Parts: sequence; C-alpha cells; structure tokens
Amino acid sequence: MNELALALSTLKEIKIEESFNIQEGERKRYKYAEGKGWEILLMVWGNNSQTPIHDHNGSKGWIRIIKGNLVERCFDKNPIYQIEKLLGLGTDSYIDDSIGTHQIVNPFQSVAVSLHLYSPSICNCNVYDENSKKWQIQNLVNHSFEGNFVK
Ligand SMILES: [Fe+2]
Repeated sequence: MNELALALSTLKEIKIEESFNIQEGERKRYKYAEGKGWEILLMVWGNNSQTPIHDHNGSKGWIRIIKGNLVERCFDKNPIYQIEKLLGLGTDSYIDDSIGTHQIVNPFQSVAVSLHLYSPSICNCNVYDENSKKWQIQNLVNHSFEGNFVK
C-alpha cells in the first residue's frame, strides 16, 4: 500500500490543462498509476458523453470529480432504474457489484474530469445492451497520456 499512498500524494500536484482535445460525445480513459491489486485512472468526459450501463466485474470502485459535473444513474442487475444523482465538483462516490450497476453521464456543456481508484484492477466488465436487453463482456481500453496533462 506504500505505492498507493505515493500515487495519491502525487495526485495533489496534477495540473490539468484546459484542453484534452476531447470532442462532444467522446470520453477518454487514462491509466495514471497502478500497483499490486489496484489502479488509478483519469477519465475525461466530453459533453453529451456517457458510459453504457455496466458492472465492475468484482472490483471495488471509488470516484472523485475533479473538474466539472457528472450524473450517475444507479441500477440493479436487471437493470431496473433506481436513482439518479448529481456528482458535482469534489464529490466522492463508491460502487461495487453488491450495490448494483451504474451508468455515468455528462449531460452538461462543459468537459468533466474524474479520478477512479479500482481494487482489484479492472480490464473488462459486463455492459448492458439496451437494444438486445442482454449483458455482454467488454474489454476496457486505455488511451495514452499524449501529453495531455502533466503532474
Ligand atoms: Fe463504473
């Protein structure tokens, strides 16, 4: 856990540049740090971007909003819609599969940035296809840093 403490301490020094070259409807996923049994990701959300409804494949997930605002829609496994909550700047939230599934949405006009800690690391998860009403496994792909933010 020393690696985790070190990674978290460096996060305080991240300076996020205004532009991530992110387009409307686009979201990007950057791996910031990882260690044995955990990873930290930075996610950038263009306006009108969203995840599919998904689980976390046994991983515990913490999220903090560090720029802009997002909305979290929480579901059970069916999925039956439960609640929608605003994740405003500075908000922390937590999810694991015992709580349910969720979908994160940026319905706002501004770019949002969130920080995610997963334990264990998550490389695929089950996503819900709203057309076929079926769950299917999906691999998660990271973007490269591309010099888009500095620490
Ligand atoms: Fe999630």
